[in-house]
Amino acid sequence: MGIQKVGVVGCGQMGAGIVEITAKAGYPVVVREISEELVEKGVGRVRKSLDRAVSRGKLSEEDRDAVMGRITPTTSLADLADCDLVIEAVIEDKELKMQLFSELDGICKPEAIFCTNTSSLVVTELAMATRRQERFACLHFFNPVPVMKLVEVVRTILTSDETFETIFEFAKAVGKTPVAAVDSSGFIVNRLLIPYLLDAIACYEQGLATREDIDTGMKLGCGHPMGPLELCDFIGLDTMYHVAEIMFDEFREPRFAPPGLLKRMVLAGRLGRKTGRGFYEYGG
Ligand code: 3HC
Repeated sequence: MGIQKVGVVGCGQMGAGIVEITAKAGYPVVVREISEELVEKGVGRVRKSLDRAVSRGKLSEEDRDAVMGRITPTTSLADLADCDLVIEAVIEDKELKMQLFSELDGICKPEAIFCTNTSSLVVTELAMATRRQERFACLHFFNPVPVMKLVEVVRTILTSDETFETIFEFAKAVGKTPVAAVDSSGFIVNRLLIPYLLDAIACYEQGLATREDIDTGMKLGCGHPMGPLELCDFIGLDTMYHVAEIMFDEFREPRFAPPGLLKRMVLAGRLGRKTGRGFYEYGG
């Protein structure tokens, strides 16, 4: 089945990025947020990102307007009824996601494919909230979505070959490089990235070096675009903590256990860029 129309649920940092690249690739997109205020804010994020591309000479004003014209904002899930693919990008809350998928299952046509953008929850468990488990999978995008080339295309033991192939092709159609992964917590990237980031926090906590020297070490010594502590701030320390907890719960290995400092920073509200302070301080 070809994808003609896409629905995106949630228009935060990830959702807005997914809406942007999908509309840019020519698909009509219906994006749903829970209030008028959040819809406006979410579509505003897309607009801002496109404006930035215009100001850098990477997109014409006409193309920006055409992309914006393909986006239909809504607060009602019912408006996703005729979508061929629905991508969920709400917060990492299992109950919320299951409730949402269960509702969507009654609204969307039976042949529509559902994908979650979860980074760590068990995809099979989310699929069980629907009656379309063979048409349920995960498209895991990376932040910032318009920039990061990768998408992990994750199948469960219930996902059909046809569904997998359709969303693998969709990932290419929106300009990404897909890699195939199975439903194991963290998939490929977070399975390797999270222990590394947690280790960097533990090194800092133990006084191995200053935050700047840890970050400079990995940037200049390994060619990473961001140092690990900067990257933690970028991802959000609450997200980091949450993902680590879920992975620790799945694997029961110390390398996935969040260090004490991470927990305390989250408790203190130092969540990184989003709150203006994490390992570093951010103005504005
Ligand atoms: N939206 C759109 N475009 C953006 C952007 C955004 N939020 N942020 C940066 N860009 C674009 C810029 O327009 C610029 O494009 P150009 O060079 O073609 O003009 C390009 O990206 C580089 O941006 P800047 O020059 O402003 O800044 P940097 O060179 O410092 O790059 C970065 C910023 C792309 C964020 C880079 O630092 C980077 O790649 N960092 C690592 C990000 C990363 O690892 N992400 C994965 C996080 S893990 C994850 O998402 C999984 C989750 O499950 C936890």
